[in-house]
Amino acid sequence: MPNPVVRFDGVRFAYGETDILRDVSLSVVPGQVVAIMGGSGSGKTTLLRLIGGQLRANAGRVEVDGEDMATLSESALYERRKKLGMLFQFGALFTDLSVFDNVAFPLRERTDLPESMVRDLVLMKLQAVGLRGAAKLMPAELSGGMARRVALARAIALDPRVMLYDEPFTGLDPISLSTIGSLIRELNDALGAASIVVTHDVAESLAIVDYVYFLAEGRVIAEGTPDSVRESAHPFVRQFVGGEKDGPLPFHKPAGPYATDLGLEDGRHD
Ligand SMILES: Nc1ncnc2c1ncn2[C@@H]1O[C@H](COP(=O)(O)OP(=O)(O)O)[C@@H](O)[C@H]1O
Ligand SMILES: [Mg+2]
Repeated sequence: MPNPVVRFDGVRFAYGETDILRDVSLSVVPGQVVAIMGGSGSGKTTLLRLIGGQLRANAGRVEVDGEDMATLSESALYERRKKLGMLFQFGALFTDLSVFDNVAFPLRERTDLPESMVRDLVLMKLQAVGLRGAAKLMPAELSGGMARRVALARAIALDPRVMLYDEPFTGLDPISLSTIGSLIRELNDALGAASIVVTHDVAESLAIVDYVYFLAEGRVIAEGTPDSVRESAHPFVRQFVGGEKDGPLPFHKPAGPYATDLGLEDGRHD
């Protein structure tokens, strides 16, 4: 096995007093596309932000390319982020820039490449997502699926070693959804990168990933290849794969008594 490009070892992370990740260990090697699945609020976005260095672990290690994120200086982090491509859930395009200028943005911002080379690179990235013909359009002229593909072209502009996707399938129609799925796989293989796809879309991700981690209660509670996931008898996994509402994952986020929230508790009518 090659060395992991992303590795979590016993990672704990809390917002204030609230533990979000209690003890997470996982690894991703170059060439792999890995899914992180978990319910809403299970800490999936938090995990990506730890990899991006926007957040720091309270305990354990987060390594990217063998380097401990906790020990990197601000300038080293900035350099490190050039190697990370991120497609965030609401990572909208700049509405006042054309498709071309959206994809050119990271190249102009983060490199000193001459404009002629920027142009070639932008057209190459747009070609990779099938949208070279849309270079002159404005974001308002794109469908939701096309906009997501442009955001993808922008995310790969700097040839990242690691691609991070936060809910890339959300809000897409079935055809755009499977296009994005295939693109995630193809771009990963073309770039020789590693990709981490955070999602609760089981069918789409099982079709394109090499390995799946299930996150619940701050831990990896199950993991395996798509085949082993499909056959798993693990109740959490079954609930995900079967899309069952009732199971070990609570449908309701933990909350105080409903009556209290409604102000109906005895003697509390002030
Ligand atoms: N900036 C923040 N401050 C405090 N709590 C947060 C913050 N961001 C997220 N949380 C909480 O952390 C938990 C995990 O959030 P997140 O990683 O976004 O979950 P997911 O992406 O799996 O839905 C949630 O309960 C969320 O409310
Ligand atoms: Mg999230």
